[in-house]
Amino acid sequence: AAEDGASAWLRYAPVPQASNYRSLPLSIVALNTTTSSPVHIAGKELQEGIKGILGKELSIADGTKRGSSSIVVGTIDAYKKTFGDFEEADDLEEDGFFLSTVGQNVRIIGQNQRGALYGAFEYLSRLAQGKFSPVTYVSNPHAPIRWVNEWNNMDGSIERGYAGPSFFFKNGFVVENVTRAAEYARLLASIRVNGIVINNVNANATLLSARNIEGLGRLADAMRPYGVQLGISLNFASPQTFGGLNTFDPLDPSVDAWWTNITNQIYKRVPDMAGYLVKANSEGQPGPLTYNRTLADGANMFARATKPHGGVVMFRAFVYDNHINESNWKNDRANAAVEFFKNLDGRFDDNVVVQIKFGPIDFQVREPPSPLFSTLHNTSTAIELQVTPEYLGQNCHLVYLSPQWKEILEFDLRADDKPSKVKDIISGERFKRPLGGSAGVVNVGTNATWLGSHLAMSNLYSYGRLAWDPSLESEQMLQDWIRLTFGFDRKVIDTITEMSMKSRAAYENYSGNLGIQTLTDILYTHFGPNPASQDGNGWGQWTRADGFSIGMDRTVKNGTGNAGQYPPAVARVFENIETTPDNLLLWFHHVNYTHLLKSGKTVIQHFYDAHYEGAATAQTFVPMWESLKGKIDNQRYSEVLFRQVFQAGHSIVWRDAISRFYNNLSGIPDQAKRVNNY
Ligand code: GCU
Repeated sequence: AAEDGASAWLRYAPVPQASNYRSLPLSIVALNTTTSSPVHIAGKELQEGIKGILGKELSIADGTKRGSSSIVVGTIDAYKKTFGDFEEADDLEEDGFFLSTVGQNVRIIGQNQRGALYGAFEYLSRLAQGKFSPVTYVSNPHAPIRWVNEWNNMDGSIERGYAGPSFFFKNGFVVENVTRAAEYARLLASIRVNGIVINNVNANATLLSARNIEGLGRLADAMRPYGVQLGISLNFASPQTFGGLNTFDPLDPSVDAWWTNITNQIYKRVPDMAGYLVKANSEGQPGPLTYNRTLADGANMFARATKPHGGVVMFRAFVYDNHINESNWKNDRANAAVEFFKNLDGRFDDNVVVQIKFGPIDFQVREPPSPLFSTLHNTSTAIELQVTPEYLGQNCHLVYLSPQWKEILEFDLRADDKPSKVKDIISGERFKRPLGGSAGVVNVGTNATWLGSHLAMSNLYSYGRLAWDPSLESEQMLQDWIRLTFGFDRKVIDTITEMSMKSRAAYENYSGNLGIQTLTDILYTHFGPNPASQDGNGWGQWTRADGFSIGMDRTVKNGTGNAGQYPPAVARVFENIETTPDNLLLWFHHVNYTHLLKSGKTVIQHFYDAHYEGAATAQTFVPMWESLKGKIDNQRYSEVLFRQVFQAGHSIVWRDAISRFYNNLSGIPDQAKRVNNY
């Protein structure tokens, strides 16, 4: 059969070792379900999945009796009502599940309906990977907020989306046909994502029209059976631009009343709406600063409106001035988030979560964690990650992102000189916050592959898995995903593993090294090399490269002071050039091209070598992929091959553009005589 990729990792393809699974129960018992409830969906998913994977047709009983041999799926409450005691009940946290496949019965018990569905997907994932040995365990989420953000515009386009038009909006309105939204919710549920913000953070107030609120209701209805709650991005100026008021001042009672009213209208149609996402006073967007109100005043206005409904306000920390002057050595966009937010710590209402991009700038190929994570102790926070690889090849390049995310999540920021890993800050654990988690900017579209590239789906898969359990290893998640997506062939697994695990380093090598950022065109496309575009403008993604030297001096002693925004133990490491890791050298220090790295090479020679090495690695992906011909269906084989051939060529464009740019600028020859010999 043709494989267009639409079912992603939920293919339920037959497993070769199916006969090893001897004790498959005879029926499925879904406890206390109503049509369209997550437990009902779980029952159907189990039926469909087992049919595909094991070729067995099981009946579903919405029954109250456990047969002699059955798969029981339901909530703790329903289970107790039917079968009495359930010892593990106390171990389950919100959205968590218990799975036991020991003996004649399989038990999948969720703390709530959503948890039961997650457990069903977990069981199916085990079967689909041929993991048949009996297990009993409880799985709980690391954090309550596990959301995706979709930057869809009302006209049907998607900002930084690389997979075709929106399936949420068209021509200014929510679409009529919500089938694909439901299919997406199914994928999200299988990786335990529980919330989705469907419109662009650069939001359009017309989303709030009566017709669109009705549309939001339809979308929420389509996704609710999968336990995925809908959220929306708001435009701060809506009371004025859409509501007809003469102000959008958050402390003006008429503005407050306007938001309360519109919020009540939305919740009337979508009673379980997850909440709001707000980008304010950033990149030209309106916000409270216009009226000399604080960002907290702005956030709390939405918090008051959503609180009675149980809603959450995700307030973005991506606030900075995009007209800063490069001639001032001390200016630094990387300082902005802490400068804007540090005095507001503790001033946000309890249902506000500050959503922080993982690094201080903007999803570059390598950044240190944002220092804001360790600055806010009395504020709930979430990490914003980008699954859509805006600066990382836009899905025309293979870049498996999990290793980068893990690097940030596992980073110990040493707040108050205590263990303070980013993952434990955003979960709420470190600073004892009630809320927290992650938001992944995904930007799926109507393309059958969802992201525009088959191999990029490992990023969406591992995003959800890490949001649930950040301790998982990148390679382990990757291989689960490969088995589910492409099957069991050893060579297929090894090859895609090797390509994916080498991909981030390759991309970093041929784009921007040593923490200088991606060096892509930052003014228009964010695609392809344009090192000159970083400097000479107000965006603040500067490299400060001249004929002799390069890098941002972010030290306290001589630079922008950014290193000092980190807790002392970390600040010391970054302040000192000796202890700063090479891969962040130019992020924190301004040095001569002839500066010697710990590797013994000069900065400029490292640039040359890394670019040649990265492009050489990208060349190897083509024959590696070609070696899988015949082991993968033709459609996916040829679609991936097309991408890999493009990447191989484009990596050479990158290599030459960047190497020659710095060769010209510095006048320092490449010792290997590649760059200056063209
Ligand atoms: C990046 C991206 C924009 C986006 C912005 C944001 O700058 O290029 O398209 O709007 O981030 O996250 O708000």
